[in-house]
Amino acid sequence: MTTRTSSGLPTWYRGLTLARVVSGEPGEATGVTQDSRTVQRDGLFVAIPGLQLDGNDFIPDAIARGARFVIVQEDQHERWAPYVNEDVTFVAVPQARVALAEAAAGFYEHPARSMGVIGVTGTDGKTTTTHLIAHVLNATGQRAGHLSSVEFAAGGVAEMNATHLTTVESPEIQRHLDRMRQAGARYAVLEASSIGLDLHRLDQCEFDVGVFTNLTPDHLDYHGNMQAYRDAKMILFRMLGDSAEKGVGKAAVLNADDAASAEMRAATIVPVISYGIRTPGDVTGADIKRDGFGTRFLVRMFGESIAVRTGLLGDYNVANCLAAVGVAVSQGVEFAAAVHALESFPGVPGRMELIDEGQPFRVVVDIASTEQAMRNVLRMLKPLTAGRLIVVFGAAGERDVARRRTIARAVADAADYAVVTNEDPRGEDPQRIIDEIASALKAEGWREGRRFERELDRRQALEMAFNRAGRGDTVLLAGKGTEQSIVIGGVHWPWDERRIARELLQEKFGV
Ligand SMILES: Nc1ncnc2c1ncn2[C@@H]1O[C@H](COP(=O)(O)OP(=O)(O)O)[C@@H](O)[C@H]1O
Ligand SMILES: [Mg+2]
Repeated sequence: MTTRTSSGLPTWYRGLTLARVVSGEPGEATGVTQDSRTVQRDGLFVAIPGLQLDGNDFIPDAIARGARFVIVQEDQHERWAPYVNEDVTFVAVPQARVALAEAAAGFYEHPARSMGVIGVTGTDGKTTTTHLIAHVLNATGQRAGHLSSVEFAAGGVAEMNATHLTTVESPEIQRHLDRMRQAGARYAVLEASSIGLDLHRLDQCEFDVGVFTNLTPDHLDYHGNMQAYRDAKMILFRMLGDSAEKGVGKAAVLNADDAASAEMRAATIVPVISYGIRTPGDVTGADIKRDGFGTRFLVRMFGESIAVRTGLLGDYNVANCLAAVGVAVSQGVEFAAAVHALESFPGVPGRMELIDEGQPFRVVVDIASTEQAMRNVLRMLKPLTAGRLIVVFGAAGERDVARRRTIARAVADAADYAVVTNEDPRGEDPQRIIDEIASALKAEGWREGRRFERELDRRQALEMAFNRAGRGDTVLLAGKGTEQSIVIGGVHWPWDERRIARELLQEKFGV
């Protein structure tokens, strides 16, 4: 992967802006990682001084697994000095996280310099907007790969993001960018969390376009206060001015309906494209109407107005669509073509995803696992459901205990029937979590047997809900989305809600 340059120095080392060789000499590495468990023979390990875990403690482990190169942080000298020996190359840098991204980008020979790179940040809507942008670009003949909290896609092939991280570590990002480049992508669309930006995971991504969705108080546990959270998001817009010149359009695509856009605008030197529903922008959405399992609206730009229908629900998804149109137009895609491409968007896997195996009722898979998310989803499904609204749900173990009560209340307020089952009990007794939810439903006046039942086995629970459902009903399978496992005790049991739902429906209704 790494090639020797004329200067004889490996590309990972040449990627570093400031470095001091402490011992040995830089040579070819087989890989770059900050996780000692994934170090390969002759690999490069970067010791990140962390909040909970300190990478310096894992240097011996990394070396034992074959690391031949170690990057350490100058100011942590006392922590790593004891491990320095002449058989291993130690390189000291001012900031290990910055160096991790630099070494990773260098190792893969800077894939982001040969593609247009689009970053999407904001409190909500990052994943949906990332997928929408990639879809619109692909549908209009621009090959785009994407990396989101749901999946990674290159060359039209998607693989699930199993890490549960919105923004993975920089060696993973750079590896994915490299794969996109190999697949012939002209664009890469990256979901950019504020934590990912703050932790330098998105350094070296050479962003050309930044998209801002919205800002609400969230993740304050990490950022401490709103200003710090806003600052983290501004990093993306500042980066737009520093990226390599690649002959692609540069733009900041900002939500005119969110006041924080003014700060994103101030943080960038590139042209702004604004979009809005309540506040007119360069791209404006109007005349929004629910249309079955979908939404119709008008998109206005350049004094032109085009009608479109999407299979997405909710006004906020209209905003996400407008952002995608703004991005496409910034890249020279014709306005009408960008808008029409919205029509064929298949949706985000595991988000309000319809499962249709010919059954006489509607089945929807959604990740909703909090009270608010459950209320939102049920509010959208209610007017679309002529019959009964049936929900399969649970609550995660070792997480917010109050959620068991609040999510049960959301279900009792809006649904007609429920099967209470496992979500991810983790180390907790699964039956106890289910019993707690059952008590909460009873407290809302729901009678067991009449309004709900309990079932420990989630597959069985799905089947019970399907057995209950009749024509005109909607069955919502909540909480798992595209997750690939269910965690019971210490074991990650393979689980794919969409596949299992399909299997059960085929058995029952298939031809
Ligand atoms: N533009 C938006 N503004 C406000 N809320 C949104 C927006 N887009 C999506 N949402 C809400 O946020 C939830 C998560 O959407 P998602 O696209 O996964 O965002 P993220 O990746 O930022 O978490 C959706 O189910 C919806 O309830
Ligand atoms: Mg996301």
